Amino acid sequence: MSKALVVAIDGPVAAGKGTLARRLAAHLGLRHLDSGMIYRATAARLLSSGGNPEDGVAAEKAALALTAEDLARPNLRDQEIGGAASRIAALQPVRDALLAFQRAFAAEEPGAVIDGRDIGTVVCPDADVKLYVTAGLEERATRRFEELVSRGETANLDDITNEIAERDRRDMERAVAPLRQADDAVLVDTSELDADAAFEKAVEIVVKQLNARAKTSI
Ligand code: DC
Repeated sequence: MSKALVVAIDGPVAAGKGTLARRLAAHLGLRHLDSGMIYRATAARLLSSGGNPEDGVAAEKAALALTAEDLARPNLRDQEIGGAASRIAALQPVRDALLAFQRAFAAEEPGAVIDGRDIGTVVCPDADVKLYVTAGLEERATRRFEELVSRGETANLDDITNEIAERDRRDMERAVAPLRQADDAVLVDTSELDADAAFEKAVEIVVKQLNARAKTSI
């Protein structure tokens, strides 16, 4: 019986996991889900109706009512939306509301590469391969700064560093599904790696893990 192949990629903000997940999915012929986008879309829906990210009831309602149009909102990548997404993501009812969609996406053949914060620990604990992608705070802040500048936006490196550190703290210290490396995840530190080198390293790990699994299941 064939089964969907799942690659779970978790890690903090601006570690390069999104680009890596997209490239890995294309390389492996799998679908890709950036799970942060569903938290961002929930936050954007909430904010656009005048809701407050600390209001758990309103945030849960926004998560349950999420539509394809919400996922196509143009401002989802904004810093303000990212901050609000991190706030509503700390609420258990919001996470519960978004869980079934993520699991259904993972279960559909041929499978998926899913990136986020709790994919290897909560959403897909039985994933075939788990990666934990991270980089130093300074490297991540510099990358985010350069990305904003290249888009023609004004950016301040100190503000970005503080914002990322605050988001790390919130995502790692929350009581529900905190960001952490799953016990069986392989660490990929991209501090010294560019996108191509990170991709090559990830492919190497994925192939090794899949071969090892194939051997143990014979
Ligand atoms: O990956 P991102 O920056 O787009 O995610 C935005 C926020 O969503 C992040 O700060 C925490 C939350 N998130 C989460 O709690 N769990 C996930 N699987 C993905 C994102």
